[in-house]
Order: sequence, then structure tokens, then C-alpha cells
Amino acid sequence: MTPPPQKYSVPLYTTSNGCPVRNPNAMIKMGKYGPALLQDHHLIDLLAHFDRERIPERVAHAKGSGAHGYLEVTDDVSDLVSADFLNGIGKRTSLFLRFSTVGGEKGSADSARDPRGFAVKFYTQEGVIDWVNINSPIFFIRNGVQFPFLVHTQKSRDPQTNLKDVNMYWDFLCNNPESVHNIMFVFSDRGTPFSYRHMHGYSAHTYKWINKEGKFHYVQIHLLTDQGIKNLTNEQAHALEADDPDHAGRDLHEAISSGNYPSWTVCVQTMTAEEAKKAPFSVFDLTKTWPQKDYPLRKFAKLVLDRNPENYHAEVEQSAFSPANTVPGIEPSADPVLQARLFSYSDTQRYRLGANFNQIPINCPLQAYSPFQRDGVACVNGNYGSAPNYPSSFEPLDYRSDASNNESHEKWVGEATSFQWSVTDDDYDQPRAMWEVFRKTGQQEAFIHNLSANLKGAKPEIQARVIEMFSRVTPEISGRLSTALQS
Ligand code: HEM
Repeated sequence: MTPPPQKYSVPLYTTSNGCPVRNPNAMIKMGKYGPALLQDHHLIDLLAHFDRERIPERVAHAKGSGAHGYLEVTDDVSDLVSADFLNGIGKRTSLFLRFSTVGGEKGSADSARDPRGFAVKFYTQEGVIDWVNINSPIFFIRNGVQFPFLVHTQKSRDPQTNLKDVNMYWDFLCNNPESVHNIMFVFSDRGTPFSYRHMHGYSAHTYKWINKEGKFHYVQIHLLTDQGIKNLTNEQAHALEADDPDHAGRDLHEAISSGNYPSWTVCVQTMTAEEAKKAPFSVFDLTKTWPQKDYPLRKFAKLVLDRNPENYHAEVEQSAFSPANTVPGIEPSADPVLQARLFSYSDTQRYRLGANFNQIPINCPLQAYSPFQRDGVACVNGNYGSAPNYPSSFEPLDYRSDASNNESHEKWVGEATSFQWSVTDDDYDQPRAMWEVFRKTGQQEAFIHNLSANLKGAKPEIQARVIEMFSRVTPEISGRLSTALQS
């Protein structure tokens, strides 16, 4: 950004209150060699700001890269969804997208074996909606309460040694074998995508799309890379960790700055409530995919990234996505992991960025008028002027005429119950089907290799439990895994 116009002909360095500083390398001192003076406002201003330069990194997905772009509607989905930004072929909506790894710290390597975050913020005429997606159609857990435990075993360090520990990683996964489907994805070569441009994105969760007539469908979103899937081998990924830890961020930035704009074809899978009742799995189970032969993909948009951020901290680090941010016509489903997420994101962002994080330009909706939420630290948007701060009879707000718009489509009745999904034989059906896909596409060898390379660092009793878990998918995997571990 260029400095604001000022009375001097060349841009002048100033203190943060705008006072010109002729020599930023000089300090005010008592005599030439005496102590420094507290009245040196430039020094104090500079150091005080430096001391506060870091903000907390994200508790998960700390390492990431972002870019601006747009979504263009290519096919009519008005029969499915009333959301304004998805209605009208050719309609374009500006967006900001942040890719990330999950388990590493902010300085960790982009090529780690890990899921990849794929978070998109759309600036629509009806507010900001975020698709906080991932590069796999499934996830490790299916109860929201498990997420902190999952992250503790994969990202946090041992409380005593401060070391990462492969044993706690596998101990957690074996204790929660519904994770096996996602483990198979992450230990295939898709667990080390060549770059952010060469992977698909998925909502993974079921959401609800509601049309103009008020009818809803359960939906899952797929973003298919137009660059084609390209992965790293285990060895290539390890080499990049040492040689170019920022490889994926560099790849994205260089592609966009050279005009080679990456794009994704956006599709939706749909299910009516009646179809969902008949499906052989729950649509609220995040460890399951919807087979495309039964629930085909329907293309509706193109997503393009065409502009790099001007400033990493302002745009990428301060971006704040939440699955709770939605627009009329799109709602969360009852998926228990999604339900927990609806709370967690804005909560961490109030801590990470402050109560008014939605006023930071990258998070700001095109328009917002919520004078009942005002004041607090860094309230920079004019604070809604003199508008009343309660629902007042003197303010002609629209909400009074629109109280019944949010009709619920599902009727939930029941007692408050402590619920944990138990693991059954059915949970191994889709992982078994994935193993057959690996057979057809020649990926079995790489999967066994990647898995055994990782497990070699674990204790023998942990290895035995992992082998036992995979024997429930198919004895072929457990047999090949135990041979690979002995070699
Ligand atoms: C109960 C389960 C989950 C909880 C509590 C949770 C919580 C969080 C939190 C606290 C962050 C950091 C947000 C920030 O600092 O701005 C985060 C980041 C993220 N999460 Fe989750 N998460 C969960 C599951 C998932 C799932 C299932 C997905 C994908 C389908 C996902 C995708 C992401 C992405 C993409 C980011 C990075 C967003 C960005 O780029 O800023 N998370 N998550």
C-alpha cells in the first residue's frame, strides 16, 4: 500500500502517530555515550510495537497460504438453493481462500503428511459465508468432543518431553478405529499433495441447501482441481521438508503472479430426507463418503484464484473462517462434529484476533449493520454511529416483519443423552472399498510403504494394535503391513 499523501515530496518514515523521523537508526541519549532517554518516542514506539508483533497462531491449521479470487456460477442450481450468490448463471462473487496443513506449527513444512485445509470466504450481497473445507471427503472423528484429543495427539507435544510422539498419535487412532477410513486417505500419496493447486477440496460434512419453496436437500460440496491431482512420494515429501519447507506457498504465489491462475470445478451431491433415511450410513457421520454412483456430482460453479495477497499478516494471518458464517438458504446439518465446530471458530478468533475481528478488512462483510453488537477493543468501523443499541421502536429495522423465515425442516425430539457412536463392522466397508480402489489404481504398494515408514518409529505393542485395526479392514493389509514392518 502506498503511504498517504503528505506535505513532503517523498514518502517519509514517521512514528505511528505520524511524526516525521529523520534518522530511524539514531537514538536520543545523554551526551554522545550516555544512557538513553525515555523521551525518545521513536525508540519506545518502535520497541513497544515490536514486542507485540506476534499474535497467537491458530490452534490447528497454523501454517498456511492464501489468495483472492472469485466464484462464477456456471450451471443453474436454483431448484436446490435460494442463496443469492449461487443464483444466476455468470454471477461472480469475490472470495478469499486459505490453504493449510493441520498439525504443524506456523513454521512447519508444507509437505508434511497431513490433511490440507481448504477454507473459502465468499463476500456475498447477503453477508459472508465460509466453506471451511478440507482435501479429503472424510475425517478422523465423528463426535465433536474428540477434536481437542485428536489435535493433542497429532499437533501438541508430550507434556513432559515437549517432543512429538508417534505412539500417542497411533494410540489415539487405534482407540478410535472409526478413523481408519481417513488414515487410509492420509497414508496414500494424497496425504502429501504436490501443492495446494493439485488437490481437490471437500465440505466432508453434510450441509442443508434450501430452495425458494422452502424445501431442503442434504448436500456435500466437492471442489475438483482443474490442474489435475498430483502427489509427492513419501521420500519427495521428506526431502522438501528439509530443502524447501515453504514449497506449497511458493508454488501458489508463483503460479498466480505469473498469470497461471489455478481453478476448481465446483460440484454438489444431493440427497432428499427420504433418500437419507434409506442410505446405508448416516449423512451425519463424517467418516463416510456418499458413493458417487448413487449420488452423482452436479457441477454448478468455477472457483478461480487470480490475486496474491498484498500483505500476509493483514490478509492471510488475520483471516478468520467459520462454518457458522452462512447466508440465507444454506444451513448446517446435525452432524455432531459440525455442531461443535459452529462454536469453536469464532470463539478462538475472539481470543486470537479480538472481539471485533469481523471488522478487520479481510473478514468484513460487504455490508453489516449490527448496532446491538458494538464497542469493545479496536472498534474501527464507526461503531454504528448513533443507532440505538437495543431493538428500538425508533429504528425502522426490517427484522420485525420477518420473524418466521427460518422454518425448521427437521423435527428433533428426545431426552438429553450422553452419546458416543459405537464402531461396528459396517464402519470397515468403505475403507475396504478404498483398498480396492488402491488395487485398481496401483496405489497399494505406496500405501503400505508410507504406513510402515511412519509406524517403524512406534513401540512394538502400538504396531501390533495398528496391524489388528487393519485386519478388520482386510487381512491383506494387516499381512502386508506386518511383513513391511519386519523388513
Ligand atoms: C469438532 C471438530 C473441529 C473443531 C473443534 C475445529 C476447530 C478448529 C479451530 C479452533 C481452528 C483454528 C481457527 C482459527 O484460529 O481461525 C480450525 C481451523 C480449521 N479447521 Fe477445524 N475444527 C474441527 C474439525 C474440522 C473439520 C472436520 C474440518 C474440515 C472438514 C476442519 C477444517 C478446518 C480448516 C480448513 C481450518 C483452517 C481455517 C483457516 O485457514 O484459517 N476442521 N479448526
